Amino acid sequence: MAVDWALGGPDLLVALDRGAGPLRNQIQDQLRTAIREGRLGAGERLPSTRRLSELLGVSRGTVVDVYEQLLAEGYVESEVGSGTRVATMPAGAAQAPGFVAESPPAPRPTEVDFEYGIPDLGSVPLTDWSWAVSEATRTLPTTELGDEAPAGSRHLREVVTAYHRRVRSGCAVADEAVVVSGFRQGLAFVLATLARHGLTRIALEDPGPREHDVIARRAGLDAVPVPVDDHGVDVSRLHETEAQAVLLTPAHQCPTGVALSPMRRRDLVAWADEVDGFILEDDYDAEFRYDRQPVGSLQGLNPARVIALGSVSKTLAPAIRLGWVLAPARFVEGIIEEKRLSSRGAPGLDQEALALLMETGRFDRHLRRVREIYRTRRDVLAAEVESVFGPGRLQGMVAGCHALLRLPDGTPESAVVETAASMGVRVNGLGHYRFVPADAKGEPEPLPPALVLGFGNVTEQRIKRGIHTLAKAVERHSPR
Ligand SMILES: Cc1ncc(COP(=O)(O)O)c(C=O)c1O
Repeated sequence: MAVDWALGGPDLLVALDRGAGPLRNQIQDQLRTAIREGRLGAGERLPSTRRLSELLGVSRGTVVDVYEQLLAEGYVESEVGSGTRVATMPAGAAQAPGFVAESPPAPRPTEVDFEYGIPDLGSVPLTDWSWAVSEATRTLPTTELGDEAPAGSRHLREVVTAYHRRVRSGCAVADEAVVVSGFRQGLAFVLATLARHGLTRIALEDPGPREHDVIARRAGLDAVPVPVDDHGVDVSRLHETEAQAVLLTPAHQCPTGVALSPMRRRDLVAWADEVDGFILEDDYDAEFRYDRQPVGSLQGLNPARVIALGSVSKTLAPAIRLGWVLAPARFVEGIIEEKRLSSRGAPGLDQEALALLMETGRFDRHLRRVREIYRTRRDVLAAEVESVFGPGRLQGMVAGCHALLRLPDGTPESAVVETAASMGVRVNGLGHYRFVPADAKGEPEPLPPALVLGFGNVTEQRIKRGIHTLAKAVERHSPR
């Protein structure tokens, strides 16, 4: 998209040499070159003639002449009320080396996007958020407008830990909380801290969220896969990895949708005690449980060994970019140190706004509202899949905003994904989330073909349309 500088026009760097020939030609040549080289992009607004003449100290008539010349040559376009803008260069136009065409050929637009992990963006409580920001701006003492306390806003840490105790059965207190800019940032800080405490190997779910292996290696850790089955992460296989830490999504496994079973929860906590290890709990999707009350955070079960990471990216919106780490006291200083070295903290007014949103019950009210939206979408997805693909094909429906659609045995998953994309439906196969280290010996155990269907940000109409398109894509590649 072109940059739309404010009316009246921006400053523009044109260097004039008053002893080197007509000024008109100098301005013209420099603008032509800037457009050819792409330094001024198609659609970008040029300064008004008045503004440019003032900037350059030349008569307005000179600039008018320059613009008229460039207009005649096709470099710029002009419309009443919209000023003079850089024209789109026609294909094959003389282009200097390095010129980048503004518009590559448009890919087929995505009509239905089943990418997991996007909340219903149309339901983000913007009125409440704008109330909270304005309240924060009105009430936050000016003394709080300097660099933040290294752990983040005390108010937000109090509120978040109280929320975690009340809603997630956790037991952390404010001194064990660090505010971060979302789960991922928290993860990087935690891994770097654990590495400095002697951790060398971490197990990651396979299949699991992408790129966590990259983040772990950046922290100097050896990342190894641990399989996930119908009960969640396989704890007996975790023993075999000889890892001293594991990162997992127990409330709703990403991407299989399995909730960690009660027995596995116990086994996992026992494993941590046995190996003197740590559980990194990505409390992802925990607020959205449909068949029963949400199951409490593992942090409440074993606070000395569990580090809980939370974020509002799924509950409110990724754009708010706030999250928290709840860690045993002995790691808190290290996590704060990582944070301090990488940034001076998260936006203070937004932290205060989030604290107010949560404290006043607006956050809970929002969750109650979107939970019903997701439940309806989930039910529509279940009904549609059953009518099109037959019963028993969906997994992971008890919680969250994504489910796993198991395809008939032998279906080539990636071919289906590609065909669906060509029909306007974006979806990922289960294979997209595999974690197979580059140095793995032998082939990994194959997974059955399946598609990961995120439905948080997909309306019911689109869910129906998307499932019908997926059925056609699967049919096209049917092994029969
Ligand atoms: C598995 C999982 N956990 C947590 C998050 C939230 O991450 P962040 O808070 O950095 O947006 C995501 C985001 O996509 C995710 O996929």
